[in-house]
Amino acid sequence: MARIDPHSYTDTAQGVIASVLMRLTVDFGAKSLSGEATLTFRQPVEGPLDLDTRDLRIDGARTKNGEAVPFDLGERDPVLGSRLRLTLPSKTREVTISYATSPTASALQWLEPAHTAGGKHPYLFSQCQPHHARSVVPLQDSASVRFPYHAEITVPSALVAVMSAAPGEKRPGPRSGTATYSFEMPQPIPSYLLALAVGDIASKDVGPRSRVYAEPATLERAAWEFGEVDSMLRKAEALFGPYRWDRYDFLVMPPAFPYGGMENPRLTFLTPTLLAGDRSLVNVLAHELAHSWTGNLVTNATMNDFWLNEGFTVWAERRILETLAGQEAVALGYALGRQELQEEIERFGVTSPYTQLRTDLGGVDPDEVYSQVPYEKGCLFVTLLEQSVGRERFDRFITSYMDRFAFQSITTEQFVTFLKEALPEVDGKVDLQRWIYAPGIPEDAPAFHAPQLDVLLRLAAGWARGERPNVEQARGWSIDAWLVYLGALPKKIEHTDLRWLDEHFHMLASGNAEILCKFLVLAASSAYEPAYAKLREFVGGVGRMKYLKPLYKALWASDATRPLARKLFEAYADHYHPIARAGLESIMKAS
Ligand code: BES
Ligand code: ZN
Repeated sequence: MARIDPHSYTDTAQGVIASVLMRLTVDFGAKSLSGEATLTFRQPVEGPLDLDTRDLRIDGARTKNGEAVPFDLGERDPVLGSRLRLTLPSKTREVTISYATSPTASALQWLEPAHTAGGKHPYLFSQCQPHHARSVVPLQDSASVRFPYHAEITVPSALVAVMSAAPGEKRPGPRSGTATYSFEMPQPIPSYLLALAVGDIASKDVGPRSRVYAEPATLERAAWEFGEVDSMLRKAEALFGPYRWDRYDFLVMPPAFPYGGMENPRLTFLTPTLLAGDRSLVNVLAHELAHSWTGNLVTNATMNDFWLNEGFTVWAERRILETLAGQEAVALGYALGRQELQEEIERFGVTSPYTQLRTDLGGVDPDEVYSQVPYEKGCLFVTLLEQSVGRERFDRFITSYMDRFAFQSITTEQFVTFLKEALPEVDGKVDLQRWIYAPGIPEDAPAFHAPQLDVLLRLAAGWARGERPNVEQARGWSIDAWLVYLGALPKKIEHTDLRWLDEHFHMLASGNAEILCKFLVLAASSAYEPAYAKLREFVGGVGRMKYLKPLYKALWASDATRPLARKLFEAYADHYHPIARAGLESIMKAS
């Protein structure tokens, strides 16, 4: 047996998937997808073949000529799900599995009409990364396996289906009142990039290669907020080489979406909390776009190598932003990242293995240890590599890295070998071993200075001594400047001071979710009751874990606010995505 991924039953010695065909019907009443998945293999397979599933009902399996395939569905492991072992007759090229998903599928969120922006139609969306595709399709659910896919999705005819693939035709479905949409993803992708959304979805062109999809109620705002997408795309191509996925469309999700963005190929998913009305949060779009190179083109083989995916992408995101907004803006981005990284290191402890870039997550649920470490420590490491050889040489390295590993999923070791070959001088300058395999942040981590950054940090450090920003000046600060400042303030603040901040800068009325969240965290940690109404509205209205987790954590931290945390969770848990719910439950288990 040769399992290659601690989060998958995949054994590539048994055989490897070459393509996937899904034919599924979406049933909103039963909260289930049902139908068939046909898997083809790279080589003919015989004997046992292990697939990943989670909470699937398997109705049967058969070969291409209709021969029944014996199967055995194993015990449910809390992290891996259930192994589906097929026993294939000799020379099997193709197997079809009939199955249905569970209403509690970990990748799927089924929204009642009331939880959408339009309020009239139900909505379904998937979030497969890191190991949830198995709750939607039985397959080898490891990033190390890539395959093209084709899908036919039948939905109620009032609704629209979209996927991380090129849309094909729409035709009448098998039953009246249904429509079938087909999709084609010709490039090989890892299973975590499978994605589906079904709802009252409209679209609008925002560039020659880009279209925004959203509920009709949000479409215009979304089209404006992300109107710069085409210039971003062209900037990214100038940095990283041609865009290799044909179109770059994106879908603005209902508020329940648990992440800021998800780089589903050809169709990035974005949280509506980015719709600030001033394009101030477009860095998330730049990040997801950057994954089209760093990630979707070259990704991690397993979650132990996740930093290769996210660390390079944060670096690439900031390179794109530099061309759009300049170096000072990027310095603030790095400063914010450093604050977040510091908080994660405090949460895990400086010697925790979860602060390593290369991790060893056998037996560990990757969702439970999701953190900014692979992102921000990864980005610092990539930036240090860039600084140690100079930008010109590093840019050539990046393009050759993309070419060498395009459409592959690689391990940290493959990366290190390539790095040492391509940039041999790095080895003497950067302690690769320490950066990649040891916990904490090495002292030679790049530091960023910008005049405004220094002012902000000094001002925040003086808070306890009574230093306050000059009101006129601070009203002119950028969003990122405010975020750096708020992030550097003491965790608990006197009520009179919170009132002062709110009176002068209208924190609680901010239309920017990042600002509002940071202020609400301060308010929650300080048991500042005038903020509670807004707090309730916010945690009741969004599903993004980046906001929910620190808010619930702040409330949970003290006896005075714990009952409020409990009450809010009871009221809103059923609006939250299964992954978010699980994350919040684990926060509220800790004493
Ligand atoms: N791929 C991630 C989201 C993700 C990671 C989902 C791991 C599930 C498991 C996406 O690219 C991402 O990193 N999103 C960030 C935004 C970004 C600007 C750092 C987010 O959602 O906050
Ligand atoms: Zn990312």
